[in-house]
Amino acid sequence: MASLFASLGRSLIKLLIVLPVIIGLSISSPAMAAQWDAETLTVPAGSGGQQVTFSESEIKSASKLFKSNCATCHNQGVTKTNQNVGLDLEALSLASPARDNVDGLVNFLKNPMSYDGEYSIADTHPGISSSDVYVQMRSLNDDDLRLIAGYILTAEKVQGDQWGGGKIYF
Ligand code: HEC
Repeated sequence: MASLFASLGRSLIKLLIVLPVIIGLSISSPAMAAQWDAETLTVPAGSGGQQVTFSESEIKSASKLFKSNCATCHNQGVTKTNQNVGLDLEALSLASPARDNVDGLVNFLKNPMSYDGEYSIADTHPGISSSDVYVQMRSLNDDDLRLIAGYILTAEKVQGDQWGGGKIYF
């Protein structure tokens, strides 16, 4: 009889250790899942209303491409030398043509244009068209550009105000 109580006691202690772990996991995992759910990973493909869904691993490898090629000037989605032309969705949407979609961003990275779309800025901004000067652009293929676009378009949804530094227009 005594040993039965002893083993019950041991089971109870195990339960007391395991239970908080289970509760902890069940509280934290839905929050993690929400960050990378399909809605977050789905962004406009072009200006025509089509959508494209990236995978979590695509966005994670894109974040490395972004860090090594773009973050010197665009860390956390701001533009160091021109705070008005950030990489937040609002700034991208107001460019001409709009850049808040994958095609718009890929076109910009192939042949960077001024914010109003009037003239090429390929001499001063890295782009495929000026990869003779911006040699790092030679190592990025079309797929890489698509992934970088996906990273930029999902970053605000994942990082909130930490991306684009909130709104600093002046
Ligand atoms: C040498 C600094 C520098 C680097 C490196 C750089 N950018 Fe830029 N980027 C700028 C500047 C400055 C602007 C604003 C240009 C303008 O319109 O006058 C800009 C503008 C942009 C825009 C337009 C934003 C908008 O709201 O329309 C996008 C998109 C962009 N950059 C993406 C990238 C990506 C992706 C990379 C990496 C492949 C990159 N940039 C690398 C300096 C840089």
